[in-house]
Amino acid sequence: MAKTYKIAVIPGDGTGPEVTAEAVKVLKAAAKKFNFKVDLTEFDFGGERYKRTGETLPDSAVEELRKFDAIFLGAIGHPEVPPGILEKGILLKARFELDQYINLRPVKLYPGVETPLKDKGPEDIDFVVVRENTGDLYTGTGGFTMKGTPNEVAVQSAVYTRFQVDRCLRYAFEYARKYGKKARGKGDKNTLALCGKTNVLTYIYDLWERAFHEMGKAEYPDIKREYYHVDATCMWMIKNPEWFDIIVTGNMFGDIITDLGAIVQGGMGIAAGGNINPQGVSMFEPIGGSAPKYTGKGVINPLAAICAMQMMLGTLGEEKAALWEKVKGKFSFIFFCKILDSLCCMWSSSICYDYEFSVFMMSH
Ligand code: IPM
Ligand code: MN
Repeated sequence: MAKTYKIAVIPGDGTGPEVTAEAVKVLKAAAKKFNFKVDLTEFDFGGERYKRTGETLPDSAVEELRKFDAIFLGAIGHPEVPPGILEKGILLKARFELDQYINLRPVKLYPGVETPLKDKGPEDIDFVVVRENTGDLYTGTGGFTMKGTPNEVAVQSAVYTRFQVDRCLRYAFEYARKYGKKARGKGDKNTLALCGKTNVLTYIYDLWERAFHEMGKAEYPDIKREYYHVDATCMWMIKNPEWFDIIVTGNMFGDIITDLGAIVQGGMGIAAGGNINPQGVSMFEPIGGSAPKYTGKGVINPLAAICAMQMMLGTLGEEKAALWEKVKGKFSFIFFCKILDSLCCMWSSSICYDYEFSVFMMSH
């Protein structure tokens, strides 16, 4: 009997609903093609609901979300809601409450997509950032004293426990073993690079670095270990992106370097991510945000949302449906994406797949 996946869909704000609608079309097409079923439940969390009811993501909703196989999120962020409320109340609350401790963000330049990097192509831009997703400056640890006075003090602390660091590193080492460049037939070794700042953040990244080498040496001797400071990581991502394979880093640095990664892979119209709890419910999202001024104009490329859906299928175990390449003459997920993108030339994005190729695929 065909397997049924229960998927929670939160289209969210701004352009979230329009890109979500396209991703859902692709999901349904993939389900038909690969013989599984999807049972979709839509939730209206976002700026409009907040304005109406004052609610972000109620605790009861978190409990409800736990019952799904996966969550798809369009975008969060509303121009009439002050910054921080929806981000903390919905996105970060889901990540924390559902303990989605990995934020997996592939940086992959697809053929036909433009990168702002001179003389770099799909062969050069193909790495993955494993961003820790529950600790660091994101825990909300801190506060003000003497607020509003000339002596005001504001403190915001970066927090990591050995447990958080270890579980993230373990995921990253396992991921490198399974999907590193050697595993993908693109090199002679799988490499995991730690991105930190051991020269200044001498507590937090000392912990990360010790844990990284201890675990690597004891349990993953087959994986090459590298270390980069975060500032140097930014430089090399531009100058020599082909050096990178799998990068693991803390929450804050991961946030920053993945925006850089997004532009390197062709922009926010293509960058996708997964908030993953390997033992629980994961949530997949295009990482571009709600782009309110473009809402309803049909100019936002839905491929980031489609790529997020692809990651969701891969994580659910529908690996065939999530393949990007045509394998052994079988249609792959990219087939649907290409068809969709060629039909959707109204998305006047920098990404334009070849219509002829889609037709060729259709006839095979
Ligand atoms: C991201 C976003 C979020 C983050 C914001 C919206 C809270 O920038 O997913 O990268 O900082 O993690
Ligand atoms: Mn970000």
